[in-house]
Amino acid sequence: MNCSNQIGGNFSARAANSANITAIPVPLVLMKDFEVHAGEKKIVEVNNWHIDGPGVTAILGPSGSGKSSFIRVLSGIYSPQIKTSGTMLKGGDASHHVSSDLRFSMVWQTPTVFPCSVYENLKLPLKTDKVDKRQWLPLMEDALSRVGLLKELGSNWRKIKATNLSGGQKQRLCIASNLLVQSDVILLDEATASLDPISTAKIEGIITEIAKEKLVIMVTHNIGQARRLADFAAVFCFNPDGYGFLCESGKAEDVLYNPVESDSRKFIQLETGS
Ligand SMILES: Nc1ncnc2c1ncn2[C@@H]1O[C@H](COP(=O)(O)OP(=O)(O)O)[C@@H](O)[C@H]1O
Ligand SMILES: [Mg+2]
Repeated sequence: MNCSNQIGGNFSARAANSANITAIPVPLVLMKDFEVHAGEKKIVEVNNWHIDGPGVTAILGPSGSGKSSFIRVLSGIYSPQIKTSGTMLKGGDASHHVSSDLRFSMVWQTPTVFPCSVYENLKLPLKTDKVDKRQWLPLMEDALSRVGLLKELGSNWRKIKATNLSGGQKQRLCIASNLLVQSDVILLDEATASLDPISTAKIEGIITEIAKEKLVIMVTHNIGQARRLADFAAVFCFNPDGYGFLCESGKAEDVLYNPVESDSRKFIQLETGS
């Protein structure tokens, strides 16, 4: 398999040059009367929400309430039968001047690495972004170091086959790929759900570091994780017609400890057993 021809789902949906990226002071997503549909079926509705960064915004909610569908639409990578309506503005600054150059990258629940070396896996985003080859190695080593893999894999890291890594290492390699994309927003959809507690703790540490400079939007089933990491939180619930909706959003300390809406309060109580 020729890895250099693969464009994977674990990094940015589109290419933009870094000059444009640095022109965006604050990543910002705005939604108004926004809906996601699959054919005739409404999946999720977000009436009014804006997400600012840097920092972590956690999205919680019961299974089927549309969290993955929402985050996929946000990433720009979703299947053709999914349609949207209403307003979703991505990018811009606090005065809502909208730029289309905001870049998103995605980390999925199941770590997706290509069956080739760690080096080849990391080469993909750099090649896609047409980064000068002389910069590849230092950029790769920096990204690996940020996810704790440089020391862990040792000096032979370039030759190690990515599929031979553990689940947690694969997921950290996916995050390293995302860092090389220089995206403005990193989206994670239950990225630690299939990992052991030690790998989860490592990834939580990496998320905290990334969120110092970027907006991180993470779907998580783990309320403890949301409480540890999130600055802002949102709870999706089901409305009486059976589709998901954004029930409550705000500061994590409010939404995750003292939600005001009855549906989100019930959800948080069920999750925490309180
Ligand atoms: N491509 C699709 N076609 C039809 N229904 C879909 C599609 N994608 C998601 N759905 C439906 O949308 C609902 C929400 O799914 P999902 O976004 O995966 O929820 P969550 O991530 O909160 O568990 C589910 O009922 C699911 O079956
Ligand atoms: Mg999901």
